[in-house]
Amino acid sequence: MPGASTPSSYSSTNPTKAGDAVLVLGVADGKVRGLDSAKAATTALNDAAKAIEFTGKAGATVRIPSPKGVAAGSVLLVGLGSFDPAKSDDDTADRETLRRAAGSALRALSGASSIALALPVASAEDVEAVTVGAGLGAYRFLTYRTGDDDTVPGPVTVLGPKGKAFSRAHAAGVVIAEATNRARDLVNTPPLDLYPESFAQTVKDQAKSRKVKVSVLGEKELAAGGYGGLIGVGQGSTRGPRLVKVEYSPKGARRHLSFVGKGITFDSGGLSLKPAASMEDMKSDMAGAAAVVEAVFAIADLGLPVKATAWLPLAENMPGSSAQRPSDVLTMRSGKTVEVTNTDAEGRLVLADALTDADAENPDLLIDVATLTGAQIVALGNRTSGVMGDEAVREKVSEQAKIAGEDIWPMPIPEEMLAGFDSTAADLKNSGPRPGGMLAAAAFLREFVGDDTAWAHIDIAGPSFNTGSAFGYTPVAATGAAVRTLVQLARSAD
Ligand code: BES
Ligand code: MN
Ligand code: ZN
Repeated sequence: MPGASTPSSYSSTNPTKAGDAVLVLGVADGKVRGLDSAKAATTALNDAAKAIEFTGKAGATVRIPSPKGVAAGSVLLVGLGSFDPAKSDDDTADRETLRRAAGSALRALSGASSIALALPVASAEDVEAVTVGAGLGAYRFLTYRTGDDDTVPGPVTVLGPKGKAFSRAHAAGVVIAEATNRARDLVNTPPLDLYPESFAQTVKDQAKSRKVKVSVLGEKELAAGGYGGLIGVGQGSTRGPRLVKVEYSPKGARRHLSFVGKGITFDSGGLSLKPAASMEDMKSDMAGAAAVVEAVFAIADLGLPVKATAWLPLAENMPGSSAQRPSDVLTMRSGKTVEVTNTDAEGRLVLADALTDADAENPDLLIDVATLTGAQIVALGNRTSGVMGDEAVREKVSEQAKIAGEDIWPMPIPEEMLAGFDSTAADLKNSGPRPGGMLAAAAFLREFVGDDTAWAHIDIAGPSFNTGSAFGYTPVAATGAAVRTLVQLARSAD
């Protein structure tokens, strides 16, 4: 499943010497930035921008001929809005501005043969932000297209100050963008080709070049191990479930982060069948699994000094003749029993089994990531995920997400939610109270996590798959949501 990949390098070359490359420059408050040494060229560019009424609105781009005194194939101006790093005291917001500008530039540069990015960078973190934005903006999903290969932007050079710290930050940015793009590839791959077995195989293939350990439980092992949730959800499909575990365990690690990702390779709803319109994008129901595995690969690639484990409960939720029925009772991996009142509330069933195993290792932090509820979209929309669980953990997730450039908002698990799962036949039923379905789902999951475990659940139903237009570094379809936040959590682990 090769993703289109644009190589990226770092250089402290003067931007006026970009050769044949398209030179990308930022425009803030109507003024072209980044060519400080070339006053005449800057004036010429400012005049040109004015003549075509390019004001530098955030995300806007325009490509123009390069002015005298600037060696470049052409110049792409990209809007930075009112960005002024000298006046701003909000580095986090500034870095997101840089990420988005670089992303908008690379989205606009389909087919450009080479690109030099000269955005205003002052710190190593700024360089990483530009690198991440460019890497994400360069993403094109072409696996199933014939003849569109020329839309992939050519090699990118990120320009900035000289020094090891800057080139190191660039290298980290490349790792993070590539991991996010691999997650996008997994999510965009149609379910005909991405099903539990093939997903597990892809994980094994990607693990080969890394210092990680992969283990896969197949159907027989899952049945023998009492994974009632995974077996129940997977039994309506001819393509059986898997539980994949990926471990990165560097010597001397003092912290263990454990990530669990919902991996429904297609969610038809099962016998509680979804209507056609709601089923259209359900190949994306494994976006949590894609995020957790690619985050662990990125943590390994960065060589971070923490242990990180990804758990991927994988199943295809189909209404075959052997499918589970509403009113069936499952005995879960934890021993608890669950009455399946709605087969479309499948995510929590597979997550529960994986959470049980993840929790048994007593990690220092346990985070699950899932396209869990339509209610998430109702509550927070398409660009903001919800995080629920222990107060300290959800605050930490939300704060680190912001640093990584993602919006994940803390949400409560109100006390009355759990009672809504009372069953007449089992310990719990799987569909709970509404409204508040996102919060209810979190209450269900919490029943499978130990009281002493630092846990949070992230619902990425909306943000994982962009059904609107592309913006900044975010393309249509798969976005790679949560990868950057999980990596940032590992970076900030103490
Ligand atoms: N995969 C869906 C949630 C979803 C909806 C993700 C829209 C992305 C976009 C999940 O399995 C589901 O069907 N949830 C139900 C739960 C309900 C039956 C309790 C829902 O949200 O309606
Ligand atoms: Mn469902
Ligand atoms: Zn689902």
